[in-house]
Amino acid sequence: MKPLICGNWKMHKDVYEATSLVKGLLVELPSEVYRRIEVAVAPSYVCLYPVHLIVEDTPIFLAAQNVYYEKEGAYTGEVSIGMLKSVGCSYCIVGHSERRKLFGETDTAVNLKIKALLDGGIAPILCVGETLEEREAGKTLDVVGHQVFEALKGVKISSAKDIVVAYEPVWAIGTGRVAHPEQAQEVHAFIRNILKDLFGDLANDIKILYGGSVKPDNIKGLMRERDINGALVGGASLKVRDFSEIVINALEVI
Ligand code: PGA
Repeated sequence: MKPLICGNWKMHKDVYEATSLVKGLLVELPSEVYRRIEVAVAPSYVCLYPVHLIVEDTPIFLAAQNVYYEKEGAYTGEVSIGMLKSVGCSYCIVGHSERRKLFGETDTAVNLKIKALLDGGIAPILCVGETLEEREAGKTLDVVGHQVFEALKGVKISSAKDIVVAYEPVWAIGTGRVAHPEQAQEVHAFIRNILKDLFGDLANDIKILYGGSVKPDNIKGLMRERDINGALVGGASLKVRDFSEIVINALEVI
């Protein structure tokens, strides 16, 4: 399976900054990268179309950071799957811990979004992960298992290959405190087993990304682990140099 490295730009970069960042990546990343790694960027909604115009004939994929699951209607402030498709999105992040915590996104909403995205032809990147408190209480696997089960309830086996899961321990996001590769691998293997229960052997083709303080100097250790199939990168994806180094360093160990 081809690993995926996706930059999650969160609420950073206006249109001018976003387009210049992606142009910088296109210059910095050697073309052989794309044969072995999928590279994606997730700008804010307003930057999707301008960034799409730059990446449409290139190997860089476009991802959204959120979506609403209804097709259309009176939902002020929301964006539909059809709209995301019309601006060239291939991926959409769902259930990021910031959305769960700050915007009240529930497991039920995450599940509806995932099913709607799969039906609509956009690959969801489902984010799961425990808080520090949950880890210290020994509840990591319970919490992550619950999130994965709830998110994937009712997903058809025929859609399984399009799912991406991102394990992002909340205590590692934006803190500079990355999970040890073995610590991450333990949870990734656990997620893989749940996916096997749900989808059988297809689970081996589902990418499981790690996210949380991924940097150029820690990506190699993570990517050497068996069940880590890429990364969701926040802070370090905002600089051309850092993000390119992450991708190039990953390439050396896969
Ligand atoms: P970080 O964010 O790399 O800044 O820790 C990761 C994420 O939230 O996806």
